[in-house]
Amino acid sequence: MPTITCVEDFRRLYKKRVPKMFYDYAEAGSYSESTFRANEADFQKLLIRQRVGIDISDIKLATKLFGQAAKLPVCFAPVGMLGIQHAAGEIKVARAAEAFGVPYTLSTMSICSMEDVAGATTAPIWFQLYVVKDREFNLDLIRRAKALNCSALVVTMDLPMLGQRHKDIKNGLSIKIRPTLRNIIDLATKPTWALRMARTPYKSFGNVIGHAKGVDDLTSLLTWAAEQVDPSLTWKDIETFRREWDGPLILKGIMDVEDARIAADLGVDGIIVSNHGGRQQDGASSSIAYLPNIVEAVGDRVEIVMDSGVRSGQDIFRALASGAKGTMLGRAMVYALGAMGEDGVTQLLTILEKELKTTMGLAGRTDVADLDDSDVLQC
Ligand SMILES: Cc1cc2nc3c(=O)[nH]c(=O)nc-3n(C[C@H](O)[C@H](O)[C@H](O)COP(=O)(O)O)c2cc1C
Repeated sequence: MPTITCVEDFRRLYKKRVPKMFYDYAEAGSYSESTFRANEADFQKLLIRQRVGIDISDIKLATKLFGQAAKLPVCFAPVGMLGIQHAAGEIKVARAAEAFGVPYTLSTMSICSMEDVAGATTAPIWFQLYVVKDREFNLDLIRRAKALNCSALVVTMDLPMLGQRHKDIKNGLSIKIRPTLRNIIDLATKPTWALRMARTPYKSFGNVIGHAKGVDDLTSLLTWAAEQVDPSLTWKDIETFRREWDGPLILKGIMDVEDARIAADLGVDGIIVSNHGGRQQDGASSSIAYLPNIVEAVGDRVEIVMDSGVRSGQDIFRALASGAKGTMLGRAMVYALGAMGEDGVTQLLTILEKELKTTMGLAGRTDVADLDDSDVLQC
């Protein structure tokens, strides 16, 4: 077993352990992937101050994100099909998150259903809603999330149309692996993954199958998913969801000051500054570069969390210094889960905690609540 000391180590191991089609599904951006690359690269442009002569023996990393206690200013992003990266993946990440003390967001497009995940954990989870043409199905998802005491509703705004990822098309991405020679050879090198998948009861999209109209099996689900992406999603829908959901309502995928103002005017509790990890609008700004504009426009009215490109404790520090209250982790969590399951996700959180603590200390800071733009310099 290789020694894991950073997120990049998880990525390398993940690549070895999970079928190529699913690695490519996660490790890709849309079209030219320029935004996908900028998300990580732009973090490096923020130089962290180095301070000395300050007592740093007591460093506080804990915070609250959308009303929920978080041991680190971190929560897990909604990621579809986690259960294909590692058997029962959603349950494993939710368990690791609960044990460590950070929030977990379950995607609409999960393999394990929200009932499965809520039944396997005691801390409340957040539920992410994809708005689909069948609005009755959306309202039913909200009712189910309420019945399970989910503690926040995260509505994804940046997928009214699908950004194309070339690799998924070339790989013929599907949760049913086609028995081509290439796939058989690939699977032969990932026997542990295949064995776990063969044994798990969680094999299809648990939130959808048996709940959406006319979706009873995988074939009908694939047709349904392709047809249900809804280009008519507008702010009016948010007013409806606001009436249906009385807990924290958070909009994900806000990358424009004008949109941030509309969201704040609608009375949402929070926004996630996110470009979907570079999977939607290719050519858009990185999240970290655009974040200060949104903080300046609405930071006094809504809580702001950011994601896209966070790969280290140093990145978490940079995001907080740029005005975010916390960060969501997408791929970093996928790498850790795919590489080492639940233990990997726990190790990931431990690594990030240590990196953030060290970065805080060497910057002469003792509380994450005190970070501001004086802690970083633009190069
Ligand atoms: C494989 C994968 C699947 C994703 N699925 C969803 C999803 O179901 N719902 C959603 O709102 N965002 C989804 N996202 C976007 C993430 O929530 C998050 O915005 C993004 O991963 C952040 O960028 P990062 O991966 O660089 O951390 C997905 C991202 C990846 C990589």
